[in-house]
Amino acid sequence: MSAGTHPSLRMDVPIIILLIHLTHTEIRGLLFSRAETETGCSLGHFPCGNMTECLPQALQCNGHKDCPNGADERRCGDNVGWADLFGETLQNSNTVDQYFLNECFLQEYPESCDCIQTDVACVEVNLQEVPRLSPNITWLSLRSNQIRVLSDSVFSEYSALERLFLQNNSLQLISKDAFSGLHSLKRLFLSENLISSLSPGVFKDLHQLEWLDLEGNQIQTLNYSILKSCSKLEVLLLMDNQIRRVPENTFQSLWKLAELNLSTNRIKELPKNTFKNLSKSLLKL
Ligand SMILES: *[C@@H]1O[C@H](CO)[C@@H](O)[C@H](O)[C@H]1NC(C)=O
Ligand SMILES: *[C@@H]1O[C@H](CO)[C@@H](O)[C@H](O)[C@H]1NC(C)=O
Ligand SMILES: *[C@@H]1O[C@H](CO)[C@@H](O)[C@H](O)[C@H]1NC(C)=O
Ligand SMILES: *[C@@H]1O[C@H](CO)[C@@H](O)[C@H](O)[C@H]1NC(C)=O
Ligand SMILES: *[C@@H]1O[C@H](CO)[C@@H](O)[C@H](O)[C@H]1NC(C)=O
Ligand SMILES: *[C@@H]1O[C@H](CO)[C@@H](O)[C@H](O)[C@H]1NC(C)=O
Repeated sequence: MSAGTHPSLRMDVPIIILLIHLTHTEIRGLLFSRAETETGCSLGHFPCGNMTECLPQALQCNGHKDCPNGADERRCGDNVGWADLFGETLQNSNTVDQYFLNECFLQEYPESCDCIQTDVACVEVNLQEVPRLSPNITWLSLRSNQIRVLSDSVFSEYSALERLFLQNNSLQLISKDAFSGLHSLKRLFLSENLISSLSPGVFKDLHQLEWLDLEGNQIQTLNYSILKSCSKLEVLLLMDNQIRRVPENTFQSLWKLAELNLSTNRIKELPKNTFKNLSKSLLKL
């Protein structure tokens, strides 16, 4: 069925699963896979799984399958594993090449964190606030800490940041300008926190955002204007929240959306235009 033929989609169970599913990209994963350090790919390239093909690093986790086997889009997030592998990579760095690969290019980052090139991982180190970092950081993981508040402009110096991992903290308050200045951000992970509301303009600078993970929070309402600026969004994960109502036009500007998961919420009814501007061919309800 398509969304257009069912103007008022009624659900009689509190749990609904709506899926617009193009490529199934795994969220759990690793940044530096073991394979990467063991293969014969040249610097700046990564291997397509156990195949012999090497592709430029920029194609890895770009939201598009470039390897024939899709290996480039597997393990594209920081979750279990990244920090561990991070440490392992550091320990096993014995060749000159690997030493160069593992070198930190940032001048400022907390002692309790790991740094490789311009990527920093501060995982499970009891941080209560966002630490100070050098401005040319590109990846930042603050996963599994005790950060409760993101105040205005807390990331504003990090305009090169492409991925930000904040899952499994105690985030309750996200100020309306908390993400301002993050003009390069492509992936934002806010899952497993205590977020109950999001100010309408909070994502306004995130024009490059492709992936937004809000799973496992306490969000009750979505303001229709919240995602207005995020026209490049491809994956939107809203599972396991308390959403009751999805205002008309909330997803209107998200014409690149390939995956939307709203399962385990409290949605009873959806306005007829909810999926108006989403590409019909991607709709699999
Ligand atoms: C690795 O190779 C085996 C055997 O050739 C194949 O079955 C498997 O699918 C490959 N895995 C990947 C990730 O390409
Ligand atoms: C990071 O920024 C500093 C100054 O802002 C600059 O000197 C340095 O070359 C930059 N490093 C990289 C790897 O871009
Ligand atoms: C969440 O973070 C806590 C530490 O704050 C840690 O003990 C726990 O294992 C983490 N859970 C997951 C799923 O990562
Ligand atoms: C949504 O945001 C707009 C603009 O900030 C505001 O006027 C409106 O009251 C908000 N609606 C809800 C339901 O929060
Ligand atoms: C929705 O799609 C229509 C027609 O494709 C387009 O004119 C309109 O600008 C789109 N709306 C938004 C908010 O992108
Ligand atoms: C949507 O999210 C639910 C809950 O995490 C999960 O069980 C389901 O597999 C997801 N659907 C897809 C196709 O990813």
